Amino acid sequence: MGKSRDLRLNWQRARQDTPGCETVLHFNNAGAALMPQLVLDAVVGHLQLEAQIGGYEAAAQQVEAVERVYDAVATLLGCQRQEIALIENATRAWDMGFYSVPLKKGDRILTGVSEYGSNFIAFLQVARKTGATIEVIPNDEFGQISIPKLRQAIDERVKLIAITHVATNGGLVNPAVDVGNVAKDAGILYLLDACQSVGQMPINVNEIGCDMLSATGRKYLRGPRGTGFLYVREGVIEQLEPPFLDMQAAEWASKDTFRIRADARRFENWETNYAGKIGLGVAVDYALSWGLAAIEHRIRHLADRLRDQLSDMDGVKLQDLGQKKCGIVSFTVEEKEPSEIKQLLSEKKINLSVSSAQGTRLDMDARGLTSVLRASVHYYNTEAEVERFCTTLASLV
Ligand SMILES: Cc1ncc(COP(=O)(O)O)c(C=O)c1O
Repeated sequence: MGKSRDLRLNWQRARQDTPGCETVLHFNNAGAALMPQLVLDAVVGHLQLEAQIGGYEAAAQQVEAVERVYDAVATLLGCQRQEIALIENATRAWDMGFYSVPLKKGDRILTGVSEYGSNFIAFLQVARKTGATIEVIPNDEFGQISIPKLRQAIDERVKLIAITHVATNGGLVNPAVDVGNVAKDAGILYLLDACQSVGQMPINVNEIGCDMLSATGRKYLRGPRGTGFLYVREGVIEQLEPPFLDMQAAEWASKDTFRIRADARRFENWETNYAGKIGLGVAVDYALSWGLAAIEHRIRHLADRLRDQLSDMDGVKLQDLGQKKCGIVSFTVEEKEPSEIKQLLSEKKINLSVSSAQGTRLDMDARGLTSVLRASVHYYNTEAEVERFCTTLASLV
């Protein structure tokens, strides 16, 4: 009781801070969450400064605000600022980590059934080019990566464990810490796609034990689009040569030589969206001001309530996997295409999204699914919105 009281979050204030709450019922936080006013102000303010005094001059004036973003993200993840690279989205952040791992014929990459589509495409490309192999660790009885099977698969040829923390297509939260323990025991690099988990639950890279972690700004962190970041543990940065280098990532040391930066900014590139970066920093500070444990507590409360109500609804089937479930609620509706339901709800100013097999082909194929509806709640959503969502859905099915 005491603990859950401490975790109470003033959602009324969160809604006052969020202009979009007045116009939509937004259950598409796993797509892109509604930005709070202060993030919007930070982004627009910087764009106005650029228009008034010039882009380079605005950046020079706002050096501190940009540098602060590294501190904010480092606080969020429990790491050092020099271990953070700011990159334009989660996919490219993940790519910069993955394509830096030296792989050769016979090396093994271990991943999970719910791995994100873009990551898997990258595995396939690298496997084709190098002769490394991709092995998918089966799920346990809860539909999450099986830790005993992962442990059994380890040998000296495994060079990378890369999994997705929260699946793009549902409530599944993979046991990232347990995977980290296996990776640590075996001394294998561990890359975690935390795109859907950062911002909706506490994340500490040292507790998880990952060597690299990628995430995005626009989803549960409520930052602007076109922002993201990569964490790389200081002790492994030197082993990882980025696939692309420019004058941000490296120095042209002499006519014939270059020197790669020693910190995680070797994974960045020079030209960037300063307004977006500043907005990302403000969004991270805003999330930290609520506290990630309080955010997670409220999200789980709303998601559980939504799952309860959907499970009682005729013609609706919940599709979430995993022992621990998060704010992403996935379901299908008998004899109705997800895209049709999405359209009908959108006409009533209710947002949700459709997750197709492209995003998680291994999992969707195994379950005979081609797409699912994805209703993803955030702390600024309300019980009343859950009711309205369910009543409206019930009138459509
Ligand atoms: C699990 C997961 N990883 C990666 C991504 C890609 O993120 P971004 O669009 O920021 O590149 C997504 C986006 O939906 C995702 O759900």
